[in-house]
Amino acid sequence: MNIVVMGAQWGDEGKGKIVDYLAADAGIAVRFSGGANAGHTIVIGGERYALHLVPSGILYPDKTVVLGTGMVIDPEALFAELEGLAERGVDWRGRVLISDRAHIVLPSYRRRDKEMEAARRRPIGTTGRGIGVAYALKASRDGVRLADLGDEERLANLEPEDAAFAREWRARLEPMAVDLVAYLRAHRNAYVLFEGAQGALLDIDTGSYPFVSSGMSCAAGAAAQGGIGPRRIDRVLGVFKAYTTRVGNGPFPTEFADDSPGSLSQYIRETGNEYGVTTGRPRRCGYLDLVALRYAAVTNSIDRLVLTHLDVYDELDEFEACVAYRIRGRLVEDFPSSVRDLEDAEPVLRRFTGWKRSIAAARAYEELPREARDYIAFIEEYVETPVSMVSVGSDRAQTIVRESPWTRS
Ligand code: IMP
Repeated sequence: MNIVVMGAQWGDEGKGKIVDYLAADAGIAVRFSGGANAGHTIVIGGERYALHLVPSGILYPDKTVVLGTGMVIDPEALFAELEGLAERGVDWRGRVLISDRAHIVLPSYRRRDKEMEAARRRPIGTTGRGIGVAYALKASRDGVRLADLGDEERLANLEPEDAAFAREWRARLEPMAVDLVAYLRAHRNAYVLFEGAQGALLDIDTGSYPFVSSGMSCAAGAAAQGGIGPRRIDRVLGVFKAYTTRVGNGPFPTEFADDSPGSLSQYIRETGNEYGVTTGRPRRCGYLDLVALRYAAVTNSIDRLVLTHLDVYDELDEFEACVAYRIRGRLVEDFPSSVRDLEDAEPVLRRFTGWKRSIAAARAYEELPREARDYIAFIEEYVETPVSMVSVGSDRAQTIVRESPWTRS
């Protein structure tokens, strides 16, 4: 069975925790896109792990994790992460595989990423990890894949610093290489989790272009870049927060205008620890945007939603969510393609009553306060998609499962 777990907003929805939770029942976890721009946080018994390249399933001792074809991998960053895991007692050897079709991020890419960003009149706010350059070179057919590292003719085309780096790292990378298509064909009866990075609205095709990342963070990426065909995907889970955040630049219709001390924006940032795992940047905060969430659900065939960070609202008397946009006087319920329209979009907000008590200890849906269940019911109706899991805290145990995604319908 093949399940895709993806972000349904602008990234940072809590996918790492959900993948980690679901990996208990999976045999294999495949990360299908992105690179060291991503940051996934997992908390187990008070221990916090920050992952960037390694799939979140790694924290179970018996799982195999694969860095998929759609990823762009900086070997230096990868091995620093693996060594950090080993120091904390996570034995990764023999359990981390890399698709030999995945692209390698070379040292000049970071520099070029920063130069391109500096030349933009409107910077995207990239993480500066060379990700955009790696994907651009992939598209122009000038990238270097893991399978190419032994090909001296190919390395001869590279800048000397890049070629030297490729030669330096290949001996450590090659033993981890796998033909992902053949591997997943051989494991066709396994339970496989396909883990997305970033989120639907940062996808190169369906996101808020050009303020997006440069990989496929859409569900379709799990097929094209995860090593299976599209009809082999059994279920797509879209993870979203009770509110919305964004790091980097670009339109964000529900962003709070007031980010001054004591504002709701700062309250949510502090309560939800909304700081980038990769860059430490404070995340921009705003109410839940249901127009954007429904767009993400439709473009990705999301058939179950997973709500996270609901506990961040515990102390609020009331809060709102966006149910439409007003764009230069026009009422719009579909997510616009034009950045200008998105920038001019004023949210039409619906008010909800808060529950004013801690939900951190809730382990069953019925234990959630009525006001929280009303909020969830409204989301389900608006997006026409059931919410099958709710996260009420960062620990693995703080998870309510209404329906296991591994149950075949
Ligand atoms: P890049 O992927 O580093 O080129 O960054 C492009 C845009 O995507 C910037 O706005 C980043 O902040 C954003 N971005 C990239 N990766 C993530 C992520 O994992 N979470 C949230 N935003 C991200």
